[in-house]
Amino acid sequence: MTRPTRREFLASAAAIAAFSGSIGAAQSEGAGRTTAGSGSTGSGPSPLERRKFGATDMTVTVLGFGGAEIGYQDVDQAIVDRLLNSALDAGLNVIDTAECYADSEEAIGRSVSGRRNDYFLFTKVGHMEPGEAGWTPASIERSIDRSLERLKTDRVDLVQLHSCDLDTLKRGACIDALERARKAGKTRYIGYSGDGAAALFAVESGRFDALQTSVSFADQACIELTLPKAQAGNMGVIAKRPIANAVWRYDAEPSQGYHVDYWKRLQKLNYDFTRGDARTNTGPDGAAGTALRFTLAVPGVDVAIVGTTKPERWKQNADLLRQGGPLPHDRYEAIRARWKEVAAPDWTGRT
Ligand SMILES: NC(=O)c1ccc[n+]([C@@H]2O[C@H](COP(=O)([O-])OP(=O)(O)OC[C@H]3O[C@@H](n4cnc5c(N)ncnc54)[C@H](OP(=O)(O)O)[C@@H]3O)[C@@H](O)[C@H]2O)c1
Repeated sequence: MTRPTRREFLASAAAIAAFSGSIGAAQSEGAGRTTAGSGSTGSGPSPLERRKFGATDMTVTVLGFGGAEIGYQDVDQAIVDRLLNSALDAGLNVIDTAECYADSEEAIGRSVSGRRNDYFLFTKVGHMEPGEAGWTPASIERSIDRSLERLKTDRVDLVQLHSCDLDTLKRGACIDALERARKAGKTRYIGYSGDGAAALFAVESGRFDALQTSVSFADQACIELTLPKAQAGNMGVIAKRPIANAVWRYDAEPSQGYHVDYWKRLQKLNYDFTRGDARTNTGPDGAAGTALRFTLAVPGVDVAIVGTTKPERWKQNADLLRQGGPLPHDRYEAIRARWKEVAAPDWTGRT
């Protein structure tokens, strides 16, 4: 498991700043307030697609918000306020965070706890290293209570075990603890967030309502390993790292951290939309648009949670989906075929 340190996130942000500057400003769209559970679609001319989230009672917008960056990159509260409120006004109804994303939970609580019925709120517990003694029922219970306090709410919609290792999962006590939290009404549903064999075990256990796993054109292992079973089990599926951290933005290999594997994979995959001048195409057939549309074309995926530090980004990405529509089947199959041709055996799901 590779967990980005705060320093790695900051270094990544600095390295891509120049490239990001070339990315166009968000296009405006009609604002429309969304009520998370109601299925109402806002007043904009073309509402964002929503999907039923597994067997739960939630219908989620296909584009959610990933809360890692606002925490790790220490984004100002005023920017978080603008970012989250403008996205909610424009139709977003899923916010994902974790207790370990620095002060992401606190920032979200400060920003949008006053409009709690407008979004589904997902968080995570744990993220200990394999074998670490932290996955005890007591620590999980404390973590959930702490999250509720930080998020300024009396319940979340989903608590996920955060990259809990296979052996710990197999012992089962951590799943028992989540089930008790669900019974106590602290969370409405429970999930597993992670990849590979542990994710497969979680799916096959039948004890989770949802799976959060890495899905993108640079991370396709789950498409055969876990997603068919998650879909058969009627689990809600959240695609994390859904645009592969936008690593096409780097001219050269990132010097460290979280983005290196995907950057190396893209050099080998060599898609026509992630190389050369094509990298600056900010339309729906450019790198970001194709990335999002690919992830959302993967069978079983319900919501892609893109991380961002920028208030305009959510609407910009929503517009890419609206303008591009579903990725045509032949383009989806070409990306799958390229992966199958090039992917090395160790190109497993990256956590
Ligand atoms: N183990 C786990 O459970 C786990 C692990 C990783 C992630 N997650 C969750 O998944 C979420 C998403 O993952 P992630 O944030 O690592 O990866 P990601 O969503 O694939 O990539 C986020 C990056 O993409 C950039 N970006 C967004 N839209 C863009 C666009 N249209 N054009 C160019 N760049 C764009 C953002 O930069 P800007 O700031 O410039 O927008 C940000 O640096 C996290 O926030 C977290 O909630 C969970």
